[in-house]
Amino acid sequence: MYQPREQFQSGHRFAIEFGGAVLNFDRVADVLRRQWPLIVAAVAASMLLVLIYLMLAKPMYTANARIMMDTRQTQVLDKDSGTNTALIDTGFVDSQVEVINSDDLILFIVRRLRLTEDPEFNGSNPGLVAIILGKVMSLFDSGEPASQERIEHAAVQLVQKNLRVERVLTTYVLSLSYRSQSPDKAVKIANAIADAYIVGALEAKYQSTKRATEWLQQRSAELSEQASASDRAVQSFKAEHNIVGTSRGLMSEQQLSDLNTQLVQARTATAEAKARLDRIEAFTDQDLAQPTVTDALNNTVITRLRAQYLDLQAQYADWSKRYGKAHQAVVNIGNKMDELRKNIADEVRRISDAYRSDYEIAKSREASLEKNVKELVAQAGHTGQAEVKLRDLESAADTYRHLYNNFLEKLQNATQNQSFPLSEARLISTATKPDHKSSPRAVLALIGGLVGGLCLGFGAAFARELLSDVLRTPGEVEEELGVKCLGVLPDVRPARAARKTRTLLASAGKSAPTGLSRYVIDHPFSRFAEILRNIKVSIDVARLTREIKVIGIVSSLPKEGKTTVAANFAQLIAMTGHRTVLIDGDLHTRSLTRELAPNAKTGLVEALNDPNSLGYHVQRSTETGLDFLPSIVAARMVNSADVMSSKAMGGLLAVLREHYEYIVIDLAPVMPVADSKAASHLIDAMVYVIEWGQTTRSALQESISGSEVLQKKVLGAVLNRADPKMLKRIEAYKGKHHNSYYVEHA
Ligand SMILES: Nc1ncnc2c1ncn2[C@@H]1O[C@H](COP(=O)(O)OP(=O)(O)O)[C@@H](O)[C@H]1O
Ligand SMILES: [Mg+2]
Repeated sequence: MYQPREQFQSGHRFAIEFGGAVLNFDRVADVLRRQWPLIVAAVAASMLLVLIYLMLAKPMYTANARIMMDTRQTQVLDKDSGTNTALIDTGFVDSQVEVINSDDLILFIVRRLRLTEDPEFNGSNPGLVAIILGKVMSLFDSGEPASQERIEHAAVQLVQKNLRVERVLTTYVLSLSYRSQSPDKAVKIANAIADAYIVGALEAKYQSTKRATEWLQQRSAELSEQASASDRAVQSFKAEHNIVGTSRGLMSEQQLSDLNTQLVQARTATAEAKARLDRIEAFTDQDLAQPTVTDALNNTVITRLRAQYLDLQAQYADWSKRYGKAHQAVVNIGNKMDELRKNIADEVRRISDAYRSDYEIAKSREASLEKNVKELVAQAGHTGQAEVKLRDLESAADTYRHLYNNFLEKLQNATQNQSFPLSEARLISTATKPDHKSSPRAVLALIGGLVGGLCLGFGAAFARELLSDVLRTPGEVEEELGVKCLGVLPDVRPARAARKTRTLLASAGKSAPTGLSRYVIDHPFSRFAEILRNIKVSIDVARLTREIKVIGIVSSLPKEGKTTVAANFAQLIAMTGHRTVLIDGDLHTRSLTRELAPNAKTGLVEALNDPNSLGYHVQRSTETGLDFLPSIVAARMVNSADVMSSKAMGGLLAVLREHYEYIVIDLAPVMPVADSKAASHLIDAMVYVIEWGQTTRSALQESISGSEVLQKKVLGAVLNRADPKMLKRIEAYKGKHHNSYYVEHA
């Protein structure tokens, strides 16, 4: 889990907790400083691999052709059909990609270009990897030779592998790239595929229009038959039912309405004639002279007769008054008047006869018309039914004719399309010979190698750091032990140099010094000496608050440098003029004794037995003034821990405290033997030696937590035998002049 948290220690601005270990900028920088050779090695290795790949990989060339899915072309002919006016949907374009990639199309190309005879495709010229793979695979194969079909299939697969068809962004353009070992072949295959696709599309279009045309033809023939049949049905029905169409509708209807008008007219005429007849017949002889009656007749003859009669009447009245009615003239006039009246009456009778005949004629005409109307109405009932049927037939005929016309038009279009099919696809750019190889891309591969190498290097470096259980920096020591790190002692005798000097001395016949006990004497201004001085300062500071005289040098395991540190530390203090005694407290190895007083016969054990003889056992170095109490034992003691923690030892140390300012004891390692733990109560402060890059955290934890007394006595730790080169990297942040005060060589 990542848990970023603020760190308040100086220099720890940002930190991430990572699997228990805190990962912050300083730590990363530390890791890089220490592990850069690993990172460089990883980068170099990956670059080398990339270079080998670049040298071995066969160059590949890519040719690119582009195909356009054109929608407008087809619309020219299909303008009216309305099916193709919509733009091609994306699904269509994507499915064209599949069509180009299809096995059938590729197989067609393989056969046409005879790719199975090409070594690139039939596997007769395989690459290094392919050869190895083939060898391995042949172990599992039945071993029979491949059939032509399988070779073709393999070639198809290979072409498909090297072919890349993609839609260019959201356009209707398909980009078709083919990769091959030869630029010419790449061009040939790319163009062949594009051609095959377009020809295939044309062929498909032709087939589909052909099928459509056939169907349309069949259907339109049927329709034409149906249309003419229904037309015929209409005609024969009309003839059968005596239906004649006019501009105003059907004959019978018109006739009926005409007759009706006539009938109405006839009826009016009859009524008029009747009225005139009735009136004329109602006239009496008396009425004849009446002007109202005669006026009404409006007859010129009658009007004239009446005018004469009126004249005679006036004469008659005058004369009868004058001569009397018996007078002959009056009688004559009366006769004339009678005659006139008779004439008028005759005339009226004659008119009345004419009126009667008029009436009779009108009546008979009306009757005949009435009869006609009745007949026609009866007939119209029949025709109405027939008409419904006729309408039916007519509309069916109309529909068939319409359909037929439509089909005819479509058929025309289809035939046109068939004779000149237009494909939706056309080649907008043919593949041309590529002048650069498309793979391997040297720059890209090198960048990839660099990045990959860096990643790998960083990964390995951090893994190494995080997984390693050893300590390398003061920070790590402080974190692990919870005590101050008093300093980092460099490895003053790198393994190689040591071996060289030893062989040199051996050839000169001298015995080689096995240890480094004299190092501070020979190199007083070295870093090693300076760090030890630093440790003394730390102890002196601690001495200000409590008495620290007995200083134990201890470590978890053997060979971490206790003896070396103790000897050099003690000598350094002694050289500064302080009264110092060094005790070899490691009763098991007694390496210090062998180192400093190889000829000693007595030592610590004897001094413990007889405290008064102490002065006799202690040896003083004339060079440094250091007093040394060696340890001499005939055989290894089983009770060395008891000896070290004994009362006598306490007594001895008490005596020494009186005589010396510093009492340095080289102790036995904590983990294998109990001596140091047992004696810890007699010691004021301990310096814990940790071998740089060797002592594991677990060992430290085990040995330190094993004894609480010891834990309390530890004043600080020292990292010993740090690789000087690595140390330089770790301490690079101190600047390049940091080491200029040290003089490493005598
Ligand atoms: N700082 C150092 N540089 C080079 N060699 C060292 C250093 N410290 C110790 N050694 C070598 O390591 C080996 C073990 O050291 P030693 O002091 O005997 O360890 P210990 O007393 O813990 O067993 C010796 O050969 C010693 O020379
Ligand atoms: Mg030792």
